[in-house]
Amino acid sequence: MQTINDYLSSHKQGLLNELFDLLRIPSVSADPTYATDVEAAADFIKNQMTKIGLDHVSVEETPGYPIVYGEKIINPDLPTVLVYGHYDVQPPDPIELWESDPFEPVIKKTDLHPQGAIFARGASDDKGQMFMHLKAVEFLLQNQQMPVNVKFMIEGEEEVGSPSLAWYVARNHNKLKNDVIIISDTGMVANDIPAITTGLRGLAYVEVTVTGPNRDLHSGLYGGAVANPINVLTKMIAQLTDDKNHITIPGFYDRVKELSSAEREAIAKMPFDLKQYQKDLDIDAVYGEDGYSTIERQSIRPSLDVNGIWGGYTGEGAKTIIPSKAHAKISMRLVPDQDPNEIPKMFEDYFKKLAPKGVKVSVQNLHGGYPYVTPTDSPGYKAAAQAMKKAFGKEPLPIYSGGSIPIVPLFEKELGTKSILMGFGLNSDAIHSPNEHYGVYNYFKGIETISYFYDFYKKQLTK
Ligand code: BES
Ligand code: MN
Ligand code: MN
Repeated sequence: MQTINDYLSSHKQGLLNELFDLLRIPSVSADPTYATDVEAAADFIKNQMTKIGLDHVSVEETPGYPIVYGEKIINPDLPTVLVYGHYDVQPPDPIELWESDPFEPVIKKTDLHPQGAIFARGASDDKGQMFMHLKAVEFLLQNQQMPVNVKFMIEGEEEVGSPSLAWYVARNHNKLKNDVIIISDTGMVANDIPAITTGLRGLAYVEVTVTGPNRDLHSGLYGGAVANPINVLTKMIAQLTDDKNHITIPGFYDRVKELSSAEREAIAKMPFDLKQYQKDLDIDAVYGEDGYSTIERQSIRPSLDVNGIWGGYTGEGAKTIIPSKAHAKISMRLVPDQDPNEIPKMFEDYFKKLAPKGVKVSVQNLHGGYPYVTPTDSPGYKAAAQAMKKAFGKEPLPIYSGGSIPIVPLFEKELGTKSILMGFGLNSDAIHSPNEHYGVYNYFKGIETISYFYDFYKKQLTK
């Protein structure tokens, strides 16, 4: 019988080449100019699913980009694992900061990746990680070692808030019926500290517009006498947090669950090197809410960030105007039990109160998602931990992540099952940033780990 490690060493180049072909497709979901590429990525996934031997493979049309579905039902009486991932990627901008073409993958060695890392947009988030699942199942099917049923659902709109996936899941409860969902779209602590993500933050994302005079004005003739929307907007934003970096929106913290001191002690014991963290980001100090550590600030506490701000004249040289409008995109990361349907309303009421007379304010709710937590005593979690232990030789740590995958809490609500977040990325992978990369080691370890998961899962359920 062929083992996974035989398989990985004899197929090394092919496994890289196939992923490279996927990474070459610029499937940027946020930008309509890439629409045909996003469709091409869906088609690529469909062909892969067929190639590895899944049945009922289909590119499922939705109001947005398609969802690619495939399944292998070994025996309807056996448990079923649903694999979720995404084939869309973030825009590559700012493109000039990439050291190589974002859509022409190359392997380069780095300090953290002595075996090399694959540099390309989507290498870690999420093409590289999603693809590991297809390859692990390919191995299991080829070797008649698939112990349970598996369904794949790979979407193309994760990076824009999964609008069509909610639509699709609501219409396909039966088809998507499963016992556990497994996702690799998160990270570990380090390559020698495997981890399973047990918490994700939620999200509320708004865009605000402050409108002053009905046109841009001469700043000499009107300056000092009319509200300048950019001056006003920046003042309003400054008031959203206080001098302790608490968020000032009334009611914002009402539903926030404080952690027990035992839970906070466990977080304090997590491996974390503040000096290295600062060095990596080239900053001389961290910054955040009083009374909480860096790990807490970026995982179990809510946050508010301006993602972009624009308006007025930004071209060459000086143009003397008072702009008519100013805009900002503002995101809030949420923690249990904050509600992404309540928070934007609270934000809007407060933000409008902060505005002086002489301007109009509008707030648009872009998208959001609930926070998520999953227990460490479920069969799925235990199987994932056993698989990681076998592959890495070390028990994984349960970690809370600050990122969001809004569809995960929705799966629980709609399908009634928990998701196991067994990711293999590193924070240093530069996801959403220039020079995104994914370790070659992580890619192959991921395939290995996933191939062990299925057997442990079956054993967990038949114990
Ligand atoms: N894979 C990420 C989320 C992530 C990364 C979670 C690392 C934990 C660790 C996902 O693709 C993502 O970027 N999510 C967005 C939210 C979405 C609605 C745009 C995010 O967190 O900003
Ligand atoms: Mn992702
Ligand atoms: Mn992402």
